[in-house]
This record gives sequence, structure tokens and C-alpha cells, in this order.
Amino acid sequence: MSAEFDHEQVAIRTGLRSDLPVIVAVHSTKLGQAVGGCRLWRYADWRDGLADALRLSAGMTAKCAVAGLANGGGKTVVAVPESTVLDVALRRKVLEDVADAVASLNGAYATGPDVGTTPQDMAAIGERTAHVFCKPEERGGSGDSSPATALGTLAALRAVRQRLHGTSALTGARLSVVGLGSVGLRLARLLAAEGAELLVSDIDPAKRERTGELGATWVAPDEGLTADVDILVPAALGGTLTKQIVPELRCAAIVGPANNQLATPDVADLLHRRGIFWVPDYVASAGGVINALTMELHHGTAHEARKRVEAIEHTVADLLHAADHQQVTPAQAASQLAQRRLDTAT
Ligand code: PHE
Repeated sequence: MSAEFDHEQVAIRTGLRSDLPVIVAVHSTKLGQAVGGCRLWRYADWRDGLADALRLSAGMTAKCAVAGLANGGGKTVVAVPESTVLDVALRRKVLEDVADAVASLNGAYATGPDVGTTPQDMAAIGERTAHVFCKPEERGGSGDSSPATALGTLAALRAVRQRLHGTSALTGARLSVVGLGSVGLRLARLLAAEGAELLVSDIDPAKRERTGELGATWVAPDEGLTADVDILVPAALGGTLTKQIVPELRCAAIVGPANNQLATPDVADLLHRRGIFWVPDYVASAGGVINALTMELHHGTAHEARKRVEAIEHTVADLLHAADHQQVTPAQAASQLAQRRLDTAT
């Protein structure tokens, strides 16, 4: 699959201290400063990290646009080779290299946490650049963004539940949460507290210990993906929804916080043809960035931020409605909305 290159700029450098590839992709600043987290992850080939940065940063542009934020999209990926041991000392070097790469963009881009990084890491980056979100609260940031991402996904789930069953309560809904990382686990807890019937899975068998606390049933990740449930909740790394898996799916809808859920864009149409609602990942997962920007850029209160995150329910309801009305997929409706907002930017 090839696509046109439409990023404003991409900086790829070998970190001075870490000697690792540091990739910062700025997709768009049309709506404002590009924002997007820093992914510190293992890749067999650094080019896979580059591909991730390109797709994830474009996703952030759409995420911010649909969420109504005055920001664009970017992403940082540090591609750690599989053989490299990322100890405390190397991690520190990586974060300093990331900070320098972010600083070199002179404010076009600000970073934040993502898979593999924490608020403490943001504090370390913050020692060298002001362009960083989600430092711990005691260091002047809005802290961990995962609770807000989980809450925003819950809001998206409510809109879909309403659409499927005429109620926004998730009590009694059957869901399969695939991935119990920092967002997946929090979301599963919120769902369990509301009385949802949960299947949970993770590639890490140690996560199985969590099933008791959640009152959930543990399944293998591939079983979780194709389970007979109301809603499938992808909460692991991206690319799980492939062309091959679509015929195997037994859910009525797919709504989750994972970024880049579709292996290829055409999967959205295949899902639609099977009558499965897919809420675009960048719509359902916007809670973290909405929370951080509302508090840190717009100086809103935690309560205001929460309200904005919960408004994802209305955004999703509107998109499902628009999709019906215009006879398009929710994915098309969302990308049209993002495009309209980008087109009207001055
Ligand atoms: N990881 C977050 C996302 O994918 C990015 C983020 C950036 C979160 C800035 C908070 C602040 O949306």
C-alpha cells in the first residue's frame, strides 16, 4: 500500500547520547501546534518505527480536529532495536535526545506520553523543553492521561450501546477488552463497575491475575478478538483489524482506545459491509489529549476537562447519525468532519 506523503516535516536523527533512532513526525499544524505522544517501543527495523510515526501523527491530526481542539497532529517514536536493553541510564539518555529533537522544532510540535512512556518521563523531557504535556501534577503538568483516555472510550461506548440497544448504560453489555495496558485495564475497571459482562485478554499472560478483580473471563488474545460479544474493544497495539479477521468477527460493534486499529484503511469498508459499527480509533481515544490540553493549554479545571472528555459520547452519536443520513461509514463521516475543520482553518 502506498500513499502520498502529506506530512509537514519529519525529523529523523540518531540520538546524540542514546545512539538510537529518534523520529519526530509533524503531520499538520493547520489548526495549531502539533501534539502527540512519545512512543518508546521495540521495532525489528527502525523503518517500522518510522511507518508508525507517520500513521500515528496523521491520526493525531484527525483526533484533534474531530475533538474540536485547536491543535494539529504529530508523534515521536524512538525505535528501540530488539536486542537493546533499555536500562535506567539508557532511558535517561533517550529522553534527553527526545527533548532536544522536540526543542529543535521551535514549538511546531509538543510531545506527551504514549505507549512506553510515563508522566515521569515527561518531567525528564521537561527539563530541556517546555513543549511537553502530562508531567506529574507536582511538576506542573496534568499527570497521567490514561484515566481520561479510558473515560473518553467509555463515553464512545455509551453512544454505540445507545445505538445498538437503546440505552447508554453498559450494565449487562457483553464486551471483549483486548489488551490490559494502562488504558485497557482502567477501562475494564470502569466497565466492570457498571456491571458489564467482560472477556479480557492480553499477550502478557501475567495480566491474567487481573481477571479476579474485574470479575471477568480470561481468554487468549485471538479468541478475544473474534468472541461472540456486543462490542469488541481493541486496547492493545494497533493493526489488529486485518482483512483476514473481518469474516471471523462476531461482534456488533468495535470501539476501543488503541491507535491505528485498522491494518489497512479498506478494512473500515469491509466492517461496514458486515454490518459492524466501527468507531474510528482517533475519535474514541481522544480523551487523554482532550484532558491534557483543556487543563494545560486552556487552564480549565479538572471538572471542565472531564465534561469535555465525556462529550465524546455526543461526538460519536452525531457521527453515527451523520453516517446513516449520508449513507457513508462512520469512518468516512469522521474523516469528512476532520477535513471540514482543517479546510476552514485560517
Ligand atoms: N498518547 C496520546 C494519544 O495518542 C497522546 C497525548 C498527547 C496525550 C498529549 C496527552 C497529551 O492521544
